[in-house]
Amino acid sequence: MKPVVLAGGSGSRLWPKSRAALPKQFLALTSDKTMLQDTLARLDGTEAAQPIVICNDAHRFLVAEQLRQMQGDHGGIILEPVGRNTAPAIALAALHATKSNEDPVLLILAADHLIKNQTAFHKAVAEANALALEGHLVTFGIVPDQPHTGYGYIKSGAVVGNGLKVEQFVEKPDMATAESYVASGNYFWNSGMFMFKASVYLAELKKHAPEMLAICEKAIESESKDLDFIRIDPEIFATCPDDSIDYAVMEKTEHAAMIPLDAGWSDVGSWSSLWETADEKDANGNVVVGDAILEGVNNSYINAEERLISVVGLDDVVVVETKDAVMVAHKDKVQDIKNVVNKLKAEQ
Ligand code: GDD
Ligand code: MG
Repeated sequence: MKPVVLAGGSGSRLWPKSRAALPKQFLALTSDKTMLQDTLARLDGTEAAQPIVICNDAHRFLVAEQLRQMQGDHGGIILEPVGRNTAPAIALAALHATKSNEDPVLLILAADHLIKNQTAFHKAVAEANALALEGHLVTFGIVPDQPHTGYGYIKSGAVVGNGLKVEQFVEKPDMATAESYVASGNYFWNSGMFMFKASVYLAELKKHAPEMLAICEKAIESESKDLDFIRIDPEIFATCPDDSIDYAVMEKTEHAAMIPLDAGWSDVGSWSSLWETADEKDANGNVVVGDAILEGVNNSYINAEERLISVVGLDDVVVVETKDAVMVAHKDKVQDIKNVVNKLKAEQ
């Protein structure tokens, strides 16, 4: 089994900590290691081969340095000259992994997830591996606790091996649809981790997104390696359609299966999820990182990097302070922080 770590996202909802030059996967948000490092450390104790990391060219030295700190071997860092989302990124990794006529099972991991129970995760990976070897595209399903619109939803079907067939996969439904799915009790969230044989993914891409596959094949044909970096043709890759694996493959394939995952998973998608998953809260339900004085504050998330934060008489707020920016938001509105980032981009 060959892990492929996707580390090319922008993490804009965790602004102002997460920046274009330093997106959330490269930050230590949930432990003393960065999220990328935790993702790799989580593989200790599995049968995993050396992981491939795929990221944007702009972050190559960050990734190389964070891997070096881990002191383990890895299978190279594929550099994307531009981001084209996860479907092409996984295609590049699958094409790279099959170059020497091998056909490994790929374990596709996001670089920015929190998983509290390693043992349960390892067990699910072993179960998924068996299904992947039989030709399934395996996802890991999480029992939903709210109608979140930022996730893929999976309707499970008949039993197959240790898992279930996927009857329907719907990426990021609207709120009314998400509500009906959660109320029905028949749907899981897609965790965003996948397992399949490289050849199985490439065959599905050929069927459902042939142009994307053809461009990725051409872009990686003349791959070159310097140090640990694997470079592809920037001009060819720039013409690649932008799409996620969820829309391009998982919604369309007939060969998807699911292993339920109950391992304390969170995708740390926003400041409110960092509040939710924090192990330590004060008596009023506040999570405080850094220096803060709170008076009559409840169920809030406070993160001070440089200066003292004081908050008086507010509930359910998020306050994040960094050297050059301060962000204050209602905890229910933290999804909209990405709009602030878009406005900042537009001003530049
Ligand atoms: N290399 C590379 N290139 N990585 C990328 C790119 C890219 O262009 N775009 C995103 N990634 C990485 C991100 O860094 C993250 O680790 C992972 O791929 C998933 O991308 P997100 O952008 O975070 O996806 P999402 O959260 O909107 O949705 C996915 O994850 C959800 C669970 O967290 C989907 O798979 C959903 O179905 C799923 O529910
Ligand atoms: Mg995500």
